Amino acid sequence: MKRIFSRILSGIQPSGQLHLGNYAGAIRQFIELQHEYEMYIFVASYHALTSSRDPEALRQSSRQVVIDYLAFGLDPKKVNIYLQQDVPGVTELAWLLSCVCPKHLMDKATSYKDKVAKGLNATVGLYTYPILQAADILSVNADMVPIGEDQVQHMEITRDLAQKFNHIYGEVFKLPSYRLQEGAGVVPGIDGRKMSKSYGNTIDPFLPEKKLRKTIMKIVTDSTSVEDSKDPAACTVYQIFSAIAGSQDPRTTALAERYRAGGMGYGQAKQDLFELILEHFADARERREGLMADPGYVDQVLRDGAAAAGKQVAQMVQRAREAVGL
Ligand code: TYM
Repeated sequence: MKRIFSRILSGIQPSGQLHLGNYAGAIRQFIELQHEYEMYIFVASYHALTSSRDPEALRQSSRQVVIDYLAFGLDPKKVNIYLQQDVPGVTELAWLLSCVCPKHLMDKATSYKDKVAKGLNATVGLYTYPILQAADILSVNADMVPIGEDQVQHMEITRDLAQKFNHIYGEVFKLPSYRLQEGAGVVPGIDGRKMSKSYGNTIDPFLPEKKLRKTIMKIVTDSTSVEDSKDPAACTVYQIFSAIAGSQDPRTTALAERYRAGGMGYGQAKQDLFELILEHFADARERREGLMADPGYVDQVLRDGAAAAGKQVAQMVQRAREAVGL
């Protein structure tokens, strides 16, 4: 098969424990794509500074994201895994891009308004967040970025910025495309809104069994009675099940049938979801235990990842510097 993309980059903010939305929207793609492409997967610690004010929590979460990437199945022999702060050229590129970025491009970014509405401080860092994201992507000259649906506007801004820069200074950057996980959509949290750390409605697949079960049992459902037929598509439990098992999976279609047939309560659907999660993440949960006990290995993965990413970034930053006259 002909390769359309060759280099892939993506990242996740260490603003708390990873959740099923991150997995279904993004991490699952990283795991699938790692066998075919050159990959750069990083921890977006600078982005997390737009919401974090607790240094120790940020340090711990940054490391935990790396451990969890590895636990989920990212193979450091195939993927360059690094912390954003270990590749400093990215922030230099962010400045060069910010000098060609029309202010109105930031004004129209919806994530800034959404986050301020949720109570985040309206800082300049939060406002220019998409420029730093563009720098992450353009600094390794990535062709494609696997993401969840909520990041699409940031990809459009990245392409706009690359185009703007190229228009002024000549062809320096490729225009990267993005990829969404089929069927994942926006995974809902236990209250039915988008699963998000900032809503406190997440499901962490690494929770101890008892806590995991308790969290799943809290998923909000409607009051349709056990014997009545139910609409699977309207139910959060089903939507999460489908995002993890896959919408075409026989377990998902069988569950949909039971919703429609009636005679099944939401408690049973939640029990099915609990069992699915335990089964789906059994290997990841076990690997994570081992990784937590091996900090030296995690350090080595990060050193190797930063060295590989650093090489790419240095080249791109040098090209951008020369282009602008530095
Ligand atoms: P973040 O940390 O919010 O989310 C990480 C990834 O998980 C996806 N995601 C979801 N997908 C489906 N349903 C959900 N409920 C859900 N919640 C999160 C996100 O779409 C994302 O793919 N700005 C980025 C981090 C970033 C980045 C980058 C990403 C910084 N630089 C460069 C790609 C490339 C963010 O906040 O992701």
